[in-house]
Amino acid sequence: MKIDGRQTSIEIKEELKLEIDQWVEQGGKRPHLAAVLVGEDAASMSYVRGKIKSCEKVGIVSTLIKKPASISQEELLDIIDDLNSNNEVDGYIVQLPLPGQIDEHTVTLRINPEKDVDGFHPQNLGRMMLGLDTFLPATPFGIVTLLDRYNIPTEGKHCVVLGRSNIVGTPLSVLLSRKRNPGNCTVTIVHSRTKNIKEILLQADILVAAIGRAAFVQSDMVKPGAVVIDVGINRVDDINAKRGYRLVGDVDYTGVSEIASFITPVPGGVGPMTIVSLLKNTLKAAQRKS
Ligand SMILES: NC(=O)c1ccc[n+]([C@@H]2O[C@H](COP(=O)([O-])OP(=O)(O)OC[C@H]3O[C@@H](n4cnc5c(N)ncnc54)[C@H](OP(=O)(O)O)[C@@H]3O)[C@@H](O)[C@H]2O)c1
Repeated sequence: MKIDGRQTSIEIKEELKLEIDQWVEQGGKRPHLAAVLVGEDAASMSYVRGKIKSCEKVGIVSTLIKKPASISQEELLDIIDDLNSNNEVDGYIVQLPLPGQIDEHTVTLRINPEKDVDGFHPQNLGRMMLGLDTFLPATPFGIVTLLDRYNIPTEGKHCVVLGRSNIVGTPLSVLLSRKRNPGNCTVTIVHSRTKNIKEILLQADILVAAIGRAAFVQSDMVKPGAVVIDVGINRVDDINAKRGYRLVGDVDYTGVSEIASFITPVPGGVGPMTIVSLLKNTLKAAQRKS
């Protein structure tokens, strides 16, 4: 069965719009998200456009701060300092990746954790580790929300997470092993140094692929009946596509959908859920301030 992240995200956005309208009617401040976009990377520009459009849909004010790829680290840190002290802005994101002259860790550490709606700051990640209230990182948050909305049992399941990035694989492995629902999984993390990847993937009741390798996971690597969550977004050339390329995930959807019990498509799976998680975090940031 296809897990329709796009449809689920539409439903959540409708719920969020009602919640935000109600919050504003009761005198709350309308939430405001700012997005900092550095350079002209086509994928980043498209992600940020999607985020801004979704803000409009739910009634969140948005501001786009666009800077050239040549920006210095000091200039970017000045922008972050301004956002930290701007009372109008409840939360903001700095779209990754950043150009080579800028150290992503330095940037992340400079973000006020109270405005870190991407949930990348160590304070928020640390709070997540301890099970405390926090801004959960948007993509893992979106994935656990999808599992929850589809009533997919996670307790006692063996979840294999392919990829150990700081923004997806590692935080997701923490969330799924938490002592709560969704959670209570036994989690294995697989990465580029793992031996016998196929044997490990075949043991997964829940398989999450987040490595950025087009169609890496083939049907002979998946246990029949497994739940498959595809996080990857990869561009592959396609002369028949209007833009000359199409987007595919890390999973061979055609083959794997025949044996998986549930599977997320790309596009239309995890991507839209990442955006709604960001919107949820922004509302939370505005409500926390009051
Ligand atoms: N849908 C969404 O909203 C969303 C959000 C974020 C990212 N993404 C997509 O998800 C994918 C992963 O992004 P990311 O930022 O999490 O990852 P990343 O920082 O690019 O890291 C990739 C991870 O995959 C591992 N890896 C790479 N090739 C491998 C291989 N052949 N076998 C086993 N492991 C391998 C790497 O291992 P090492 O650690 O050993 O190098 C690393 O842990 C990308 O396609 C990205 O565009 C989608």
